[in-house]
Amino acid sequence: MNHREIVAWLRQSDPARLDELWHRADDARRRFVGDEVHLRGLIEFSNHCAGRCEYCGLRAANRKLTRYRMSEAEIMVCVHQAVSLGYGTVVLQSGDDPNAGAADRMSRLVRRIKTETPLAVTLSLGERSDEELAAWRDAGADRYLLRFETSNRALYDRIHPARDGAVSDRLALLGTLERLGYEVGSGVMIGIPGQSHDDLARDIERFAALDLDMIGVGPYLVHPNTPLADPSRRPVLDDGEQVPADELTTYKVIALTRLVCPRANIPATTALATIGGQAGWESGLERGANVIMPNLTPPHYRRLYDIYPDKACIADALEARGESIPKRIAALGRSVGNGRGDSPNYLQKKGSELFFVALCDRGK
Ligand code: 5AD
Repeated sequence: MNHREIVAWLRQSDPARLDELWHRADDARRRFVGDEVHLRGLIEFSNHCAGRCEYCGLRAANRKLTRYRMSEAEIMVCVHQAVSLGYGTVVLQSGDDPNAGAADRMSRLVRRIKTETPLAVTLSLGERSDEELAAWRDAGADRYLLRFETSNRALYDRIHPARDGAVSDRLALLGTLERLGYEVGSGVMIGIPGQSHDDLARDIERFAALDLDMIGVGPYLVHPNTPLADPSRRPVLDDGEQVPADELTTYKVIALTRLVCPRANIPATTALATIGGQAGWESGLERGANVIMPNLTPPHYRRLYDIYPDKACIADALEARGESIPKRIAALGRSVGNGRGDSPNYLQKKGSELFFVALCDRGK
């Protein structure tokens, strides 16, 4: 698919044509990554952040937020919960918290999880030094998530101010992660003020150029205590150029991403569930996605992991109605993934024995 075609799909509003896009994406999903939906247990273990990203409620300058850091014992309770729920992966996520000793504590925690459980460990800890990323990989971390947010460099620089004189360069970090042997995940926000359809099409093309193993996308949601909430700080594009931060555009990006990166693991994200509810994440799964990330953070901390307002919690919403995630997945005619759910894209790159094992498992 070329740039012009991607832009045309992003601007498409004819429901019949869009149905065609959803079908193509769902077909590719079935053929390349199968019917399994992999569940990742998300643990938001600290909301401390040294970053100043202009859209994010965790930014250092947001003094209205109560900060927390979970202890190793508290984190391990969530980890064991992931095991007992049958999940294959935990995602350890925090703000960019470069506190003295924190890197060593993280190495210890990763070693402990890898010794005590069969889980794959995904880290999502922000922009960290090459040394830290290497140490965590040595400790056994399998995967790393770092969204590049937008491929438009001017827009990126506008919303990611330099820190201590150092310019933020997530694309360079993605290269480092790949060299270290991580399974690499990235993604963007949809509808960032100042993001054009051309920009978003280039983001999707960049996913393919980076050969990403995991790709997470979600709508930009306004957080009141951030600079980007101030309308006067928002760049104004020509009429019709600004990408809307809505559900439909998110589905389009998920579907197009599946078509250009067929073997990637693609989640129906929390931000999508936040604007679309249960129907939102289910539609995501039917339009290209094959992963969901149920939140295992204890509720009193989860509330403080305030990236954007009114973050959805799929499991809680379903439980309130006597439903559950596995039941809903079965209702979609899909099955809950067994094992670690490594990205087929990564396995193919590695050309490893693991790839054949996974293929055999899928055939069972
Ligand atoms: N709206 C939507 N997504 C956001 N993120 C951070 N702030 C917001 C927001 N206001 C996303 C970013 C980041 C990920 C952890 O959360 O893409 O990489």
